[in-house]
Amino acid sequence: MARGEKWEAPAIDVHTPSVARMYDWLLGGVENYLSDRAACAKLLEIVPSSPTLARNNRAFLRRVVKTLVRDYGVEQFIDHGSGLPTQENVHQVAQRLNPACRVVYVDRDPIVLAHGRTTLDENANTAVIEADMRDTEEIFGHPDTERLIKRGRRTAALFVSVLHCLPDSGDDRDPAVVVRRTAARLRELGPGNLMVICQLVSDDPEVRRKVTELMVGSTHGNWGRVRRRDEVRAYFAGFTVLDPGLVDVVDWRPETAPPPVDRRPPEWVEWGGVARL
Ligand SMILES: C[S@@+](CC[C@H](N)C(=O)[O-])C[C@H]1O[C@@H](n2cnc3c(N)ncnc32)[C@H](O)[C@@H]1O
Repeated sequence: MARGEKWEAPAIDVHTPSVARMYDWLLGGVENYLSDRAACAKLLEIVPSSPTLARNNRAFLRRVVKTLVRDYGVEQFIDHGSGLPTQENVHQVAQRLNPACRVVYVDRDPIVLAHGRTTLDENANTAVIEADMRDTEEIFGHPDTERLIKRGRRTAALFVSVLHCLPDSGDDRDPAVVVRRTAARLRELGPGNLMVICQLVSDDPEVRRKVTELMVGSTHGNWGRVRRRDEVRAYFAGFTVLDPGLVDVVDWRPETAPPPVDRRPPEWVEWGGVARL
């Protein structure tokens, strides 16, 4: 917002659950409404382990960012579907190791954007942009992205716990196509760039069906699908996957070995890994 411009409160639909606010509730946050909490209550009936899953995912995000900065020299991140700010957001983790790290946060939820602009857009090396994660050209061509993300500096695109928000459209909005288009843009920035991808998967067809029905219905269609492992594996086709491969995110380079048994949701997992292009 330019200086002197009048600030307008974002239009927040408090009656329709939002994925960002539900995830906030699952993580113990307070930026959620009655509709979100009611939808979470229904979700817990199907998958009681959801809060554990959310915490596992957030811990993975912190771990992977730390690893990419420390061990792979990543200096620039594009965080697709960044979510409501919580403790230890991407730029805080990255800039603790390297204060020069740059982060572009992308989301389209008005409450994420409102909070993000006060909490995430914290220093000259971060920006929050409003975009649909499927609009790759808009994201890479955004003035803030062009200001922060420079060719020749190691860059990572994050799609952490977001691709299940996208339906299979069978066209250029399809999640697999979005991944390939983003990879192509990363390759243009230089060799060795990375992509982090994980999403909700279940081996149980009933869990996949029930959660998908609940989320698509609750969000009025603003959701995609719980997928199978092989569908997520297909996102990585043609990429070099870093160790330990595609796994439950709890098993992605855990800091304590082995992770406690109560951190393993039986019904579903966030599943994925890291690819080097
Ligand atoms: C489950 S949260 C994940 C947050 C964060 N990536 C993490 O792992 O902690 C999903 C986020 O994706 C955002 N989102 C969903 N669909 C989106 C879309 N098409 N474009 C941009 N953001 C989207 C939601 O608003 C929400 O903030």
